[in-house]
Amino acid sequence: MSRFENKVVVVTGGGRGIGQEIAKAFAAEGAKVAVVSRSESSCGAAAEAINAEFPESAKAYAVDVANHDEVAALGKQVVADFGTVNILVNNAGITRDGLLMRMKEADWDAVLDTNLKGAFNTVKAFQRTLMKAEDPRIVNISSVIGLMGNAGQTNYAASKAGLIGFSKAVAKELAGRKVTCNAIAPGFIATEMTDELNDKVKDAILGNIPLGELGSTDDVAALTLFLASKEARYITGQVVATDGGMTM
Ligand SMILES: NC(=O)c1ccc[n+]([C@@H]2O[C@H](COP(=O)([O-])OP(=O)(O)OC[C@H]3O[C@@H](n4cnc5c(N)ncnc54)[C@H](OP(=O)(O)O)[C@@H]3O)[C@@H](O)[C@H]2O)c1
Repeated sequence: MSRFENKVVVVTGGGRGIGQEIAKAFAAEGAKVAVVSRSESSCGAAAEAINAEFPESAKAYAVDVANHDEVAALGKQVVADFGTVNILVNNAGITRDGLLMRMKEADWDAVLDTNLKGAFNTVKAFQRTLMKAEDPRIVNISSVIGLMGNAGQTNYAASKAGLIGFSKAVAKELAGRKVTCNAIAPGFIATEMTDELNDKVKDAILGNIPLGELGSTDDVAALTLFLASKEARYITGQVVATDGGMTM
């Protein structure tokens, strides 16, 4: 039997990059996956690609995680479609970089609303379902920037550090119901988000990675699946980095 047979997984930001890889990896191991992203086209294409490889395993949901009412409706819709939810992966995230001196209030709000309030919204929407589910898990995708800070990313660093505190508090609140909640802190992973960086910045980044290369979406997916597995039942409230040694 596959590791996630009979499990239902919700992956936010599943339309591209790390989230799409996570959604595909769960489907490959037998799970049903709700692929959530902002735009219909991106989550639709991701679900279609996953279904082409693993028939009838994925369904697309175009939802803005920052919107409390839309996410509450998502909570009901996924349960209506799949019957339950065992695993919630909060991966949706954005950047709006700039030095604090020049950062617009809208850039602060957009990043905090998606990266941090988005997780508040989804946990609110799914926690009752998770409490009743078998092997319930929450995995929140934070970042090494939430541990280390980064000039030009005050909004992103605050959102990702906030997500770590949120994960620990949720872990404590839901431990009595055996729902585990952990955070992953990826380092620099090759995706559209990091493609935007210029060569000079990329070289500087590589100089700070002991293993000497960017990570892959597979690296983050593998760790997510482990933390969501039965085997990880005794791990909760932790932050696990997959960063080529950047934060050691
Ligand atoms: N790449 C890295 O090096 C790195 C490192 C550390 C942490 N992370 C974190 O890992 C996560 C994924 O990063 P990535 O590089 O894969 O990003 P990406 O390629 O930019 O993809 C982001 C995904 O999130 C979705 N999304 C954004 N805002 C949303 C919202 N308000 N509601 C619903 N979905 C939303 C996007 O939807 P659409 O497709 O519809 O636009 C997209 O599917 C993020 O939380 C990021 O902060 C990334």
